[in-house]
Amino acid sequence: RLLIIDFGSQVTQLIARRLRELNVYCEIHPYQKVTDAFLKDFAPRAVILSGGPDSVTREGSPRAPDALWTLGVPVLGICYGQQVMMQQLGGRVESGHGTAEFGRAFVTPAAARLPILDGWFAAGNEQVWMSHGDHVSAIAPGFQVYGTSPNAPFAITADTARDFYAVQFHPEVHHTPKGAKLYENFVRLAGFTGDWTMGAYREEAIRKIREQVGGGKVICGLSGGVDSSVAAVLIHEAIGDQLTCVFVDHGLLRQGEAEQVVGMFRDTYNIPLIHADESDLFLTALEGVSDPEVKRKTIGRLFVEVFEKHAKSVGGAQFLAQGTLYPDVIESVSFSGGPSVTIKSHHNVGGLPEKMGMKLVEPLRELFKDEVRALGRELGLPPAFIGRHPFPGPGLAIRCPGAITRDKLDILRQADAVFIDQIRRHGLYDEIWQAFVALLPVRTVGVMGDGRTYDYACALRAVTSVDGMTADYYPFSHDFLGETATRIINEVRGINRVTYDITSKPPGTIEWE
Ligand code: XMP
Repeated sequence: RLLIIDFGSQVTQLIARRLRELNVYCEIHPYQKVTDAFLKDFAPRAVILSGGPDSVTREGSPRAPDALWTLGVPVLGICYGQQVMMQQLGGRVESGHGTAEFGRAFVTPAAARLPILDGWFAAGNEQVWMSHGDHVSAIAPGFQVYGTSPNAPFAITADTARDFYAVQFHPEVHHTPKGAKLYENFVRLAGFTGDWTMGAYREEAIRKIREQVGGGKVICGLSGGVDSSVAAVLIHEAIGDQLTCVFVDHGLLRQGEAEQVVGMFRDTYNIPLIHADESDLFLTALEGVSDPEVKRKTIGRLFVEVFEKHAKSVGGAQFLAQGTLYPDVIESVSFSGGPSVTIKSHHNVGGLPEKMGMKLVEPLRELFKDEVRALGRELGLPPAFIGRHPFPGPGLAIRCPGAITRDKLDILRQADAVFIDQIRRHGLYDEIWQAFVALLPVRTVGVMGDGRTYDYACALRAVTSVDGMTADYYPFSHDFLGETATRIINEVRGINRVTYDITSKPPGTIEWE
């Protein structure tokens, strides 16, 4: 297995993802945890040092464990990881002085050839993606230069005798087109044959769940979304009826959602399931709340209360399972004071109070959405279910900007059902990552049947995305939009104006709150 030492880069998980695409098993561990002893115990076949936000010139900044340099396995340092490598092995790193580089750059090859660059430079310079303030000003003894960019004379360096490789750019991102090739060359050189698959991931995840849970009881928060469903089926496979699913109806679900989900889990999967109708509890607590973060935190807190109640009702569950994905993690918590700021408190990550008397089981925490879908297929979930659009834990609360009322939720539910029906009728559902209606907290004047109306406006939202991290609006035809607006206004009382949200992410987010 391969070890990734994480120094806090926003894109560390993309390294893991690139490796999984190469069918290589890897684990990411934060640098604080990777001591000499950890390293010996882990016995990696290769190590990758991630990028990170700190400066190696700062006293007390993160380092790799000393034992790494005598382990005798290939090491690849990326950006901050490259600078750590140089600093620790006797080179020099300096800050700033106009040599910072952000974004696209072009690397020119040096005379000597490097095996991990097989396939590079066939057509001249290669595009790479840089993001660094510091730069290496002297390479460590034993290293040689294999590629330079205008602002990074040591863009690619290596000590081939020791199999140490160091690059200033980020090969894991899309904007380094030959990056995947570099990773492929690196893992082949390290002796990986690429025999690891989603099936192997499933086995490994099951083993880890059993190891963590032992004979304990687990309750799993089931939202009806793909993530929690895949998590539930996986955990059920690992520990059988030690698992009870809790489907919390917080009164913020879409039309027909509760029936569909409960039906599938009870009938198809035979997984013990509690259908907790807690809509009064949630809607009362949310009355008059309009701040998005307060909404999210309130919902998060109530989820915990409900889960704690049911942890008792099943006879004392010690574990709470959730389908938390990697994008939820990176956007919700900042890594040890690191680079990623809190955009939104995803209730299933940020809102959980530390003191909750249960341990978390989160088998999907390292995966991206499309990988979860692949795992779902591997587990045999029905394709229609795997293809369902994501639905956020806080539900319609974050699609109803401003104060929430039951009336508004009813209007929203109906409009949403019409929109989704339109999308299905036109055969567009699978082309779209996610689609929904947001009910706006404004009323506008209209005229219907010769009378004046003063009703809510709504916004349609439909985006394409690969992983939810970035997104673009879906280019519906004007006919489709017109027909949908007409249907919503005709069929839903309370809405007299329909708009289409054409914001991408960034700068917007997918949800409105
Ligand atoms: P944003 O709005 O941050 O959403 O661009 C990215 C993806 O995450 C979903 N989302 C959530 N999922 N709990 C969840 O389980 C949450 O609190 C939450 N907030 C956003 C959103 O629907 C989109 O798919």
